[in-house]
Amino acid sequence: MRILANRMDLGFQKYQAEYEEAVMRVLRSGWYIMGKEMKAFESEFASFNEVSRYLHSMRWNGSGNESIFCAGVASGLDALWIGMKVLGIGPGDDFIVQGNTYIASVMGGTINGARPIFIEPDVNYQIDLNKIEESITSHTKAIMVVHLYGMVCNMDKVVDICKRHHLYLIEDCAQAHGAMWNEQRVGTFGNIGCFSFYPTKNIGAFGDAGAVISHDPDIIHKIEVFRNYGSQEHYKNEVVGANSRLDEMQAALLRVKLKHFNDLTDERRKLAKRYDDELKNPKLIKPVEEQGSYAVYHQYVVRCRDREKLIDFLQSKNIGVNIHYPIPPHLQEAYKYLGHKKGEYPITERYAQEVLSIPIYNGMCEAEQSYVIDALNAF
Ligand SMILES: Cc1ncc(COP(=O)(O)O)c(C=O)c1O
Repeated sequence: MRILANRMDLGFQKYQAEYEEAVMRVLRSGWYIMGKEMKAFESEFASFNEVSRYLHSMRWNGSGNESIFCAGVASGLDALWIGMKVLGIGPGDDFIVQGNTYIASVMGGTINGARPIFIEPDVNYQIDLNKIEESITSHTKAIMVVHLYGMVCNMDKVVDICKRHHLYLIEDCAQAHGAMWNEQRVGTFGNIGCFSFYPTKNIGAFGDAGAVISHDPDIIHKIEVFRNYGSQEHYKNEVVGANSRLDEMQAALLRVKLKHFNDLTDERRKLAKRYDDELKNPKLIKPVEEQGSYAVYHQYVVRCRDREKLIDFLQSKNIGVNIHYPIPPHLQEAYKYLGHKKGEYPITERYAQEVLSIPIYNGMCEAEQSYVIDALNAF
């Protein structure tokens, strides 16, 4: 048997007729940028995240607004940097972010000239909530929480810290569509929730795509203007913006995925539960879903001290795996200018040596998962 680390073709095949219908609808419409499909997806994605009964405990920002608004953009990175730009986070500002995240989270702030302050992750790979407050200074403008691997930390605590210190709360939900804390969707706790629809994501497009959601219609309006050369009216430009539009084709395809999303998430959660129950090898540390959270298992990440040997072993059995991520942002060439040293963030660095994402994808069959489980237990 050969198992790939991830499969996207199966997800396409399952709803092939619907995807083909969506593509043809767009092609025949004669309208390919910023049309009906984008508007429909924005509104459907906003409602999906809104689920108003979930918004019981938090009223963010004094806006008192329970509704969610959404602006489609061209990628997850654009969602982050344009969102942060619109919030006014820039040179002279610090933003707090976990050290073990994907580099795009960090770039979302640094593109705007802000400085990342890295925080070590907790045992579940999420930002260590006990280490945030000691890092807040007069320069801190925002906390960015990344719901890494589709898991969720205690958002009540994050909201409390942000409120007490008057900080923006940005959620990087690129890996966590539909995940919840106390039955409230991620992306709705703070000022902005930023999503990627990169093809491998839980709601994946067939190319690049992203979105920002917010309770604040003004923020969403500013993003709508910014993403289109700073223009609302043809050939009238209010601000220097960007070209970062969610195109009609991706929007139409995303609408299909969104329609089936609950089933797709259930499937991932069942696969994860089976790994939880049946992986017995003491050399592997399994992820733990925090009480109150609803994880969506973008990845199922184990830790192993002998990771390189484990990878070789799995390769000998034709099982593909991934490492998310082998080099943490503070040690990347791109961030040399920040002056961080090896050893400065020992937990982040240890995770970079030990984490392993094992196969989990929609369409993974029982026999395939059994094969992976047997191999991992035999190691
Ligand atoms: C945590 C995280 N943030 C941001 C991004 C950036 O998204 P995109 O690839 O759509 O730019 C990604 C995905 O690649 C991600 O995993």
